[in-house]
Amino acid sequence: MTFQFEAPIVVLTGAGISAESGVPTFRGEGGLWRNFRPEELATPQAFKRDPKLVWEWYTWRRELVSKCEPNAAHRTLVEMEVVVTAAMSGDAQAFTLITQNVDGLHEAAGSQNVVTLHGSLWSMRCVREGRRFEDRRLKMGNYLLRCPNCDAPLRPDVVWFGEMLDETVLQKAYEASERARTMIVIGTSALVHPAASLPITAKRNGARLIEVNPEETPLSPYVDETLRGPAAVELPRWWKLQHP
Ligand code: OAD
Repeated sequence: MTFQFEAPIVVLTGAGISAESGVPTFRGEGGLWRNFRPEELATPQAFKRDPKLVWEWYTWRRELVSKCEPNAAHRTLVEMEVVVTAAMSGDAQAFTLITQNVDGLHEAAGSQNVVTLHGSLWSMRCVREGRRFEDRRLKMGNYLLRCPNCDAPLRPDVVWFGEMLDETVLQKAYEASERARTMIVIGTSALVHPAASLPITAKRNGARLIEVNPEETPLSPYVDETLRGPAAVELPRWWKLQHP
């Protein structure tokens, strides 16, 4: 199969890709950071001060996301992964999906090679040993859940403000971005680093950049192609044109 783009292909997604599934973004109209103060809910200090409040907030987000389904943009990325990987004889590096989202909708749709930069709403982590536990309960009677191994508190397994990203995960994201021949950036305000620097890394290494976003971002001046509109409309339309 011939494509109108070159592989390896790397996709970077942000909250905007899940907007049409009903998951609120962070900075747009109705965005979470317009209505909540991140320093009270999404920092290690906040968790130390009031773990119950922080857990309640994450439980509320889990409940919200549990009612949402992947949309046409998530599904297009699943198809893209299958088709591009097969076209490159099963090369595991042919397609990489890097996401800042913690909602799990890419995995729910069926994407395989997903690099989750900011963690997951569906995982919790021991504050002492760092051990991870997947947890899909929506109602947590006891908000101060304890690690079954060492009894230390469990925290949401997400990256908070002021925290470093997991080094192995970040390295995987940079390596994929350096290899990319095409990078599609979908639904991110491109304001949060290091995620926002990945497309620049890709571009410096010769990748063609495509942005899917109804609004301009700081990345817009550097992109080679702009799909100005909602991801669930623009991405399937673009994908159809790639393999006539
Ligand atoms: P933002 O809320 O900052 O940006 C969402 C972007 O999606 C904006 O550029 C919108 O224009 C765009 N958008 C809105 N609706 C869209 C649609 N239907 N289709 C395509 N794009 C659409 O979200 P992020 O860039 O993901 O960090 O935010 C980055 C990080 O900041 C998040 O991962 C989170 C937050 O603090 C952590 O939780 C660590």
